[in-house]
Amino acid sequence: MKKILVTGGLGFIGSHTVVELQNEGFEVVIIDNLSNSKIDVLNSITEITHKKPDFHQLDLRVKSDVKNFFDHTKIDGIIHFAAFKAVGESVEKPLEYYENNIGSLVYLLQEMRDRNIDNFIFSSSCTVYGQADELPITENAPIKPAESPYGNTKQVGEEIIKEACNAHNLNAIALRYFNPIGAHDSIKIGELPLGVPQNLIPFVTQTAAGIRKELSIFGDDYPTHDGTAIRDYIHVVDLAKAHIAALQRLLDKKNANNFEFFNVGTGKGSSVLDVVKSFEKVSSQKLPYKIVGRRAGDITAAYADTSLVSKELNWKTEKTLDEALDSAWKWQESQL
Ligand code: UFG
Repeated sequence: MKKILVTGGLGFIGSHTVVELQNEGFEVVIIDNLSNSKIDVLNSITEITHKKPDFHQLDLRVKSDVKNFFDHTKIDGIIHFAAFKAVGESVEKPLEYYENNIGSLVYLLQEMRDRNIDNFIFSSSCTVYGQADELPITENAPIKPAESPYGNTKQVGEEIIKEACNAHNLNAIALRYFNPIGAHDSIKIGELPLGVPQNLIPFVTQTAAGIRKELSIFGDDYPTHDGTAIRDYIHVVDLAKAHIAALQRLLDKKNANNFEFFNVGTGKGSSVLDVVKSFEKVSSQKLPYKIVGRRAGDITAAYADTSLVSKELNWKTEKTLDEALDSAWKWQESQL
């Protein structure tokens, strides 16, 4: 049985990926420092899969702790989620973002080099494309200057991994996520935003639950069908499954290059108002909202060309926007 390290394995995407890994028969070791996750998630994962993953509360910024972990655990592959992810916060605290997102990555790669551990999956983001000139976005679209330190950690992170793969004979895949949303079918795990949500879906569900007064829609003057901005919202369980496919590709040595990157989205763009309509339909809730000005740094539209990922990873999304929003709403209701 292959043993896979999942860093940030109690976070939103990490926890869903741990479930899918265990469902596929992998043995999972989680590292998480609980900076943006709750220990209860470990029990929820265990309830879903009937198997408790090995868990280490550990901070990847502490090099001696990272070394100590690898001294005692033999690993066949790493899926690296642990990172800060708030775009706005990264502008306020760039050095913390570089220390956490880049420092931890470098320490992990050093351990892989020193101990001959291979097979690395990296959480990247469609943010590397900025506002792409052509839609849908293919992997050939140029990388645009990062809009935030957070975005830069994804760009630089990919560069570091590529160079480490070349120099040290490692194999890695970066998955460039579009907008992950939703919750597990069991409604035992989902997104747990800290404080006021910055992302659309948790703000929508908290507004419907009465925690927030109304949704502010950031701009209705974009050149789109209804004036609101367009994104590619992907169900987190579909996204989790893409990680298993990417990992299996590396374990089977089917990768075409030592560093590959794939877009992971649905291929379908939805506007903010499309999301509101879909949410109102599946939840039977009326969502109070108002239109306000554009949010700084937002782009008009982004959605994935999924041809490469579906061909190379033999993966495609199975869930619709309605299903994702339905699960997000049920998850929100379960939190009350
Ligand atoms: N939006 C609102 N009101 C809100 C929140 C969001 O109208 O209260 C709008 C945004 O303006 C945007 C859309 O909803 O048009 C989606 O916004 P999110 O914040 O949910 O997602 P983003 O696409 O802005 O950001 C996501 C990830 C980032 C990543 C980025 C890459 O959260 O980590 O995609 O494009 F960097």
